[in-house]
Amino acid sequence: MSNYHIKHLEEYWQVYRKSVRNPEMFWEEIAEEHFLWRKKWDKVLSWDFSTPEIKWFEGAKLNITENCLDRHLATRADKTAILFEPNDPGEAAQHITYRQLHERVCRMANVLADHGVGKGDRVCIYLPMIPELAVSLLACARLGAVHSVVFAGFSATALSTRINDCDCKLVICSDGSYRGKKTIDLKTIVDEALEDCPGVGTSLVVRRTGGKVSMQEGRDRWMQSLLDAAEPDRPATIVDAEDPLFILYTSGSTGKPKGMVHTTGGYMVYTAYTFKNAFQYREEDVYWCTADIGWITGHSYIVYGPLANGATSVMFEGVPSYPDYGRFWEIVKKHQVSQFYTAPTAIRALAKENIDFVNKHDLSSLKVLGTVGEPINEEAWHWYNENVGKKNSPIIDTWWQTETGGIMISPIPYSTPTIPTFATLPMPGIQPVLMDESGQEIQGNSVEGRLAIKFPWPSIARTIYGNHERYRETYFTAYPGNYFTGDGALRDTVGYYRITGRVDDVIIVSGHNLGTAPIEDAINEHPAVAESAVVGFPHDIKGNALYGYVTLKETGEGRDPENLRREINQLITDRIGPIAKLQKIQFTGGLPKTRSGKIMRRILRKIASKDTANLGDISTLLNPEVVQTIMDESLA
Ligand code: WTA
Repeated sequence: MSNYHIKHLEEYWQVYRKSVRNPEMFWEEIAEEHFLWRKKWDKVLSWDFSTPEIKWFEGAKLNITENCLDRHLATRADKTAILFEPNDPGEAAQHITYRQLHERVCRMANVLADHGVGKGDRVCIYLPMIPELAVSLLACARLGAVHSVVFAGFSATALSTRINDCDCKLVICSDGSYRGKKTIDLKTIVDEALEDCPGVGTSLVVRRTGGKVSMQEGRDRWMQSLLDAAEPDRPATIVDAEDPLFILYTSGSTGKPKGMVHTTGGYMVYTAYTFKNAFQYREEDVYWCTADIGWITGHSYIVYGPLANGATSVMFEGVPSYPDYGRFWEIVKKHQVSQFYTAPTAIRALAKENIDFVNKHDLSSLKVLGTVGEPINEEAWHWYNENVGKKNSPIIDTWWQTETGGIMISPIPYSTPTIPTFATLPMPGIQPVLMDESGQEIQGNSVEGRLAIKFPWPSIARTIYGNHERYRETYFTAYPGNYFTGDGALRDTVGYYRITGRVDDVIIVSGHNLGTAPIEDAINEHPAVAESAVVGFPHDIKGNALYGYVTLKETGEGRDPENLRREINQLITDRIGPIAKLQKIQFTGGLPKTRSGKIMRRILRKIASKDTANLGDISTLLNPEVVQTIMDESLA
């Protein structure tokens, strides 16, 4: 018997030890007993972290939508699969059953196939949080096509870069989206992006807002009429376990975004297993993750993990502040949500508002509270525990990444005793290690270092699309033989992990990963700008906010700084999206540099954080005198 569902702490330890002693046997048992395979694997795992090459369930054949949809039809056809809660609380929620979801996915798969989409083809999805978004992912998967979802808050430039990087031929989009009081014309953004995407022959447009859009003859088609005309059934295309399921872009510290490639079999097994255990999901539960499907959290824990378990997964279109700051809690009450999964930035924002927004809603249906995306600070943890969980719902602080595919370190609720700010213990099969600066593994407890993982797990990303060398270099060269996460962590006296934050130039703002390099590139496009450096500094709601140091060309001197700031932020909004806007912009005469010309971001970070007591040795800088000037200016 496999240990698919852990129910207490001793069982966790027993399962964990087994999973580390023999990972192949552990995952093989789970894969065999809980999923539908058209053909079993020849080999459970082959791996080499130096090439690097990782294969799980090689030779196996399956379709993930048969696991997420078809197999539930016998027992759960009329159970709600997706519970859609619209932006406007006056619009009715939609309870989409497994039978209906199956039909909608098949129809859309037929439409995509009619437009030439087949196995291995990349499809870009740029949609708001409406049911068609989940349907689109699954429709691609049904055909063995590879989806590449781009978060619908990204700009036209960010969208076209991602479309071109993985050579998408078709885009699924909508006329617009609703976010609180705002209506956003997404189609206009897509039109602008597609001017730079000669490879895209078709865009299928979902109607949501009913806003006026321009439809380009021969390229753009309304989705609904095609769906209505399509056959309601379609057999699933059978793929190999190691065939790609999707590409999802994430920011790196340098260069363009990385298209992380996830494959089918291992991803399915791992997301389903971790969903079941991290959330202690039970058949009658209603589960809600507030993330957007444009991020990995939505892929793994709104769509694939929950549906593979036959769960009811809430999909919320709106924002936590509309029509008021009680919206999350109103939805919890309305749909009797049992597991609630959100980001620390949302918790901090809501904690600032009047507590009546929470207290006026009955939250007694809640059993598990989760957080993800960035470290949760102690104050937010306690607020969540006391006011939302009423000290009755364990909080799971789940650490993981786009690259890891699923939750890596997290308490098992009702089993693992929790401590604020600690992600606690690894999930079964996960072998974390802490590394020191010299590349040695740090043994024992009460230690701090850089977090790496020394053994593969089924849902690790297999490559960066089109750039395997970058994949090797980014994740497997810092500590040869290990996967390097980019995060720092400490291990306390009992072996619990606490994630301390990024140790590279990725900054997490409101839970979104932002690389400094693309933001600096956008700033430097301004004709008056000579050079720039972007760093993060603490912000009480966003976790981090962005601080830009900018030097001007002669032509920029004497220009109104407020106008320049506005223009720079507009450039960033155009190139990346509003999430990357700078909170503060300091114009300065020079940036601190090493003798080899590298900008010393470490020093700038300290100045931005007003932590200048200990700047470290600055005497080796090329221009140590600018440091004092920058400090004086920042106080001015
Ligand atoms: C950070 C999100 C502390 C971390 C699933 C990681 C966290 C990055 C936590 C990945 C957590 C995520 N505690 N930090 N519980 N969860 N992070 O790719 O720095 O959007 O490397 O994946 O978020 O962000 P990504």
